[in-house]
Amino acid sequence: MLMLNARRCCLFFLCLSWTLVSAAEDTAPPTVLITGSNASHGLAFVEEYAALGWRVIASCRTPAKADRLNALAAKYPDVVVEELDIVDDVEIAALRAKYEGQPIDVLLLNGAINSFRFGPMSFRKMDYEWFEEILRVNIIGQMKVAEAFQPNVEASQQKKIIAMTSTGGSITETEIPIAPAYRASKAGLNMLMRAYAQAMERKGVIVGIVAPGTVDTEDYMNAEDPDSVPSNYRNMMRMNRLAPRTAIDDMIALIDRMTLEDSGVFYEWTGRVIPW
Ligand SMILES: NC(=O)c1ccc[n+]([C@@H]2O[C@H](COP(=O)([O-])OP(=O)(O)OC[C@H]3O[C@@H](n4cnc5c(N)ncnc54)[C@H](OP(=O)(O)O)[C@@H]3O)[C@@H](O)[C@H]2O)c1
Repeated sequence: MLMLNARRCCLFFLCLSWTLVSAAEDTAPPTVLITGSNASHGLAFVEEYAALGWRVIASCRTPAKADRLNALAAKYPDVVVEELDIVDDVEIAALRAKYEGQPIDVLLLNGAINSFRFGPMSFRKMDYEWFEEILRVNIIGQMKVAEAFQPNVEASQQKKIIAMTSTGGSITETEIPIAPAYRASKAGLNMLMRAYAQAMERKGVIVGIVAPGTVDTEDYMNAEDPDSVPSNYRNMMRMNRLAPRTAIDDMIALIDRMTLEDSGVFYEWTGRVIPW
């Protein structure tokens, strides 16, 4: 916890200095729009960006059931909760209309179908309807939201669209043939965002591709009672595959320092460049 506070402090001063530098031109805090912000990584991003003083548009599919997110919105006046299913054209259009003309510095495409949560699926056990849904949400939904809010990003100071991908989307680093649908969706997303980055270059929009690893957003690593930790997380800890909660701060710092040179590069949360 001490470590977390120290890192949060560093990040706070980093962002504070950025804010002070830009204060002469613009006094408004930067804005981030996050999809899938009711749980896990998304919720942790809302909390950290809010703690840094950002204005956070925290979208999720069912605000009425997003208790933890609503609690954050009650704590931080600059957090506003919005309804958005990223494959629902009507909801996308409604939210786009609501925020028309308002700059969005960072559009964080976080919400997705994560195979870790929904079961891995393996060859010879394919559910093809589910496979199609994964591709629809993890590739097409991301692009729909990116295009809908691209004018807001273009109108902002920082101009960043960040897609949360996965190390599982690396073709080069494929080691075990599990979760093919999820991996295919993330490899497809990488291709899409790489091309989008090229298309956005002349507009000065940075398209980040970031693999977050599975972050220990619930701080299971420091659980007083090890039996309270879900078994899948215990396994990940044993295999040293769980990223600490501070990975969220590291990703915010990574996003913060991204320039056009980082656009379309496949990054791990650590800052390592992952081969395609
Ligand atoms: N190994 C890796 O590199 C790695 C590891 C973990 C995560 N990730 C990526 O990081 C991101 C966050 O993962 P996570 O672990 O936080 O996943 P998670 O716990 O499964 O949460 C997924 C979030 O996405 C939302 N979502 C799903 N379908 C959606 C839709 N159609 N419209 C809007 N939101 C939707 C969920 O909302 P509901 O609660 O309404 O379902 C939930 O908020 C994902 O893109 C994931 O693929 C990568």
